[in-house]
Amino acid sequence: MTETRKFDVVISGGRLIDGTGAPGRNMDVAISGDRIAAVAAPEDASDWRGNLNIDASDRVLAPGFIDVHTHDDNAVLATPAMPAKISQGVTTVVVGNCGISLAPITDIDPPPPLNLLGGRDRFRFDTMVDYVAAVEDTRPAVNVAILVGHGTLRVGAMDDLNQVASEAEIQVMGGKLAASLAAGAIGMSTGLYYKTSKAASTDEVIALAKVVSAAGGVYTTHMRDEADHIITSLRETQTTADKAGVPVVISHHKCSQPDNWGRSEETLAFIENARQSTTMGLDAYPYAAGSTVLDPDWVNDRIRIMITTSEPYPEASGRDLADIAAEWDLDLKAAAVKLTPAGAIYFQIDEMDMQRILAYPPTMIGSDGLPHDKHPHPRLWGTFPRVLGHYCRDLGLFDLETAVHKMTGLPAETFGLKDRGVVREGAHADLVVFDADKIRDLATYEQPMRQSLGIDYVLVNGTLSLTLGNLCPDRAGQVVGRH
Ligand code: ZN
Ligand code: CU
Repeated sequence: MTETRKFDVVISGGRLIDGTGAPGRNMDVAISGDRIAAVAAPEDASDWRGNLNIDASDRVLAPGFIDVHTHDDNAVLATPAMPAKISQGVTTVVVGNCGISLAPITDIDPPPPLNLLGGRDRFRFDTMVDYVAAVEDTRPAVNVAILVGHGTLRVGAMDDLNQVASEAEIQVMGGKLAASLAAGAIGMSTGLYYKTSKAASTDEVIALAKVVSAAGGVYTTHMRDEADHIITSLRETQTTADKAGVPVVISHHKCSQPDNWGRSEETLAFIENARQSTTMGLDAYPYAAGSTVLDPDWVNDRIRIMITTSEPYPEASGRDLADIAAEWDLDLKAAAVKLTPAGAIYFQIDEMDMQRILAYPPTMIGSDGLPHDKHPHPRLWGTFPRVLGHYCRDLGLFDLETAVHKMTGLPAETFGLKDRGVVREGAHADLVVFDADKIRDLATYEQPMRQSLGIDYVLVNGTLSLTLGNLCPDRAGQVVGRH
């Protein structure tokens, strides 16, 4: 009689796509505690026994997906089960993007876009130490990697946001940034497009990016301009990264507004060239529309705009701004003024640009989902299955190994998330089992909160978190630092 090897979990019969981009192979995976204990061909794993045994026959087994671009700072505390993410196979979220982080700041009436994270009562963490402790106490279902928002630092340190930060203000921001990085944040984000941060000079950002560099962190940016002046913004991004000596990630890369449709050829050529000398990455979501706060200054009649949320008019959520304006007998701008504070979906991207950017090998996947909107952009619930189903399987933009790499190994490497994003012995047991034939996003602009199909099992740090499409009660997310 042969001896058996005991594990907590054994996943057998699946096709392993390990996150590195390597071809899928039939391999079994065993877990002990929160780590992957063994990976072996089925014939070498016949003596494995798990307390829990998962049959992954006819399924793909992959590392849990890493959502590199989120605004889940408050969501991981307020809705720790994180159904929108776990149901897609996401096991790690990077929070604090676009210059917006929940910490370190208290006692503010959050100006847009900080209000994307919630109202005054949500901003209650004076230090990153406090925020990290709150996440650890809450133990959300997903792992959390934290960026410090430059916009948050500015709101906390500056009297007049319409100015370049003074030397003294840069000192204050730099001090808070350094302390946040020491407390476990992995880097800094900017949102130079937004009114909280527009006035910041490149030098102001470089000064802070140097603090990130000293801590070995990463810099992500929602650039100053994603429309007519996108190349100037790309240049600024490269200059910042070079002068500060920091790796940079261009957030939700797109060519915004009809005049710029088709320009992704130009922007990707710029990025490709920049990557010769600069550590530069990028992320994108698989939709031809963006979403953020509604700002009357951004409204025009060339693109469709849909309201996602409105404080004074909650019933406007899910309706087109043009229809509301017609009903109120107002022009678009005046209607937008009436609706604010509000959020909106802007149909400002060309599908072919988006596909070209998605297919570009260095592009990672980030949902940019906005979890507090009443009628959110469907990317919140659909991003990852949409890439794997619609764009990979149905349209053949890339093979499955590449698709998985864009949402696992590549982001782990880019953000320095040690032992994540790959399936190998010793790595954290963040895993997803899905049906490559059935995986499909169901969330639409009209019905944005529909759960995707085809995700069978999700494990976070060895804990079963989704089974046959249903959330499990145990939550095992950790705060994830840079190695
Ligand atoms: Zn952004
Ligand atoms: Cu964002």
